[in-house]
Amino acid sequence: MKVVLVGFMGSGKSTVGKLLSERLGVQLVDTDVEVEKRTGMSIPEIFVKKGEEYFRNLERRIVEELLTLPKDLVISTGGGLPAYSDNMELLNEKAFTVYLEADFEVLWSRIADDRSRPLVSLGKEKVRELFERRRPFYEKAKLRVRTDVNSPTTCVVEILNALPSSNSGAQEDPP
Ligand code: S3P
Repeated sequence: MKVVLVGFMGSGKSTVGKLLSERLGVQLVDTDVEVEKRTGMSIPEIFVKKGEEYFRNLERRIVEELLTLPKDLVISTGGGLPAYSDNMELLNEKAFTVYLEADFEVLWSRIADDRSRPLVSLGKEKVRELFERRRPFYEKAKLRVRTDVNSPTTCVVEILNALPSSNSGAQEDPP
């Protein structure tokens, strides 16, 4: 089974993804890292030199490829991915999707000073609008977990307990 983490920048996808992959004993793949590996460029460099559309097409191709690999994975996605093309439909069809949710003020406080995220330079109000526009896409995920009120470990336990597979770690009552 593939577990895909979606959510806005700063929602904790990398942190929760790492813990979750360790608990499940499966590999973690981060679509942003894959994009950087394949292009040999950093995300800000790609936005400047190739443009955002190039980036969106590439992240779509990468996620398509990852979803067809014949192995279990935890996939951490870039914050914009669910809002482009029919990506959320594709993810829901092929994986167990989890929306890592947090209030905008919390998200902004986590990303405001981060220069590795080109969209942050749009400024707080434009980024808030982006967040509001994307929210309906994130909310199509199969599970929602709050990362602003829960620790990363608690988030992972919530995900493990909701996984539909036998390796979910959920405690079942004896028959
Ligand atoms: C983006 C989020 C980033 C990265 C790129 C664009 C976005 O990923 O994919 O900077 O559109 O929100 P994170 O959500 O991991 O920061």
